[in-house]
Amino acid sequence: MVDNIKWHSGEIDKAAREELLGQKGMVLWFTGLSGSGKSTIAVEVEKELYWRGKASYRLDGDNLRFGLNQDLGFTAEDRIENIRRIGEVAALFADAGLITLASFISPYKAGREAARQAAGKENFKEIYVKADVETCAERDPKGLYARARKGEIENFTGISAPYEEPENPDLVVDTKSLSLEQSVELVLGLF
Ligand code: ADX
Repeated sequence: MVDNIKWHSGEIDKAAREELLGQKGMVLWFTGLSGSGKSTIAVEVEKELYWRGKASYRLDGDNLRFGLNQDLGFTAEDRIENIRRIGEVAALFADAGLITLASFISPYKAGREAARQAAGKENFKEIYVKADVETCAERDPKGLYARARKGEIENFTGISAPYEEPENPDLVVDTKSLSLEQSVELVLGLF
């Protein structure tokens, strides 16, 4: 796969881009069940960073499946490929100097670990947006849990597909007990 190709370094590196932007490029990786609050928190963090003069970019599960990952579904194999691509894309954005907010269920530990390796450990924060299946199913903002329980959606995370909880996340945001404002504050505390 990587035969006959060679890495070509430019003369402007990550540190130079970071200096220009006055910030450190990094990945904030939000993982958790559908409906746990990943995207909602990422949207608010993005706004707050903007007002603080920080350049950020948000990558979101639903959105990326309209384009880059439109060929992928929700089998284990497709999710692994989904997260592999996003891990690489997020690493590129961080290398560009941006604070990159990635919100994907990312159910497998190995995929999240690969994303951390791609970005470089020092540039990566894993944020577990924690809410149990019952809580997410009660919220059911997209009506997907109800449909999954009726058997209308296959491989639904938490119902008929697995979610491997993070063992050592950099941050746990328990959205069952915290308000949105409190959750956002916790994430911003990582800086
Ligand atoms: S991941 O597992 O590959 O990381 P991703 O975050 O991209 O998933 O997409 C999850 C979103 O797709 C959910 O928030 C939900 O809106 C939608 N979705 C559609 N089908 C499923 C399914 N079978 N399981 C989970 N989410 C689904």
